[in-house]
Amino acid sequence: MIMAVRKIITLGNPILRQKAQPVSKITKSEQNLIDDMVETMEENEGVGLAANQIAVPKRIFVARWEGETFAIINPVIDWKGKEMVKGMEGCLSIPGIQAEVNRHLKIRVKGLDRNGKPIVLEPEGWLARIFQHEIDHLDGILIIDRSDQLFWVTTEKDEEGRERTRLVPTTKSAIIASFQKIKSSVRK
Ligand code: NI
Repeated sequence: MIMAVRKIITLGNPILRQKAQPVSKITKSEQNLIDDMVETMEENEGVGLAANQIAVPKRIFVARWEGETFAIINPVIDWKGKEMVKGMEGCLSIPGIQAEVNRHLKIRVKGLDRNGKPIVLEPEGWLARIFQHEIDHLDGILIIDRSDQLFWVTTEKDEEGRERTRLVPTTKSAIIASFQKIKSSVRK
């Protein structure tokens, strides 16, 4: 089987902001797409990836957690627990940024597996967080829309030469402006 790592699009690309379309028929092409998404997620050390992050506007996401890999087509959250939890999230489409995002501790997700078989999952904790993050992507929603606790992640060396990560507070508009600048300098 030939799999391929695809290019992940970043903030500023309009495809990220569009609502992805439901998959009406699962063919070999969707299954190949899922394989590529898993490969791309692993290559980039991510825990989740939505199809529109590789510029394919279809309602499919993949995730991995504690050794298990998930792929869900046309996911729908049909139940959300009342309890909310805050946690730090990063996003492969907004590299260098972390956001503290409030998510439901438990949700129930319905969708289809790679063979078109209906599935129901009830993730909680970090897996529930990953699923909510990825389903947001399919609706064009990013972590910078969900939080005002936003940070640049920088690494610096301490006196003993050890690498330390530091979180520098920032704002949504500063992040958008910065990614816009990266895009226009690449275009030149
Ligand atoms: Ni993301």
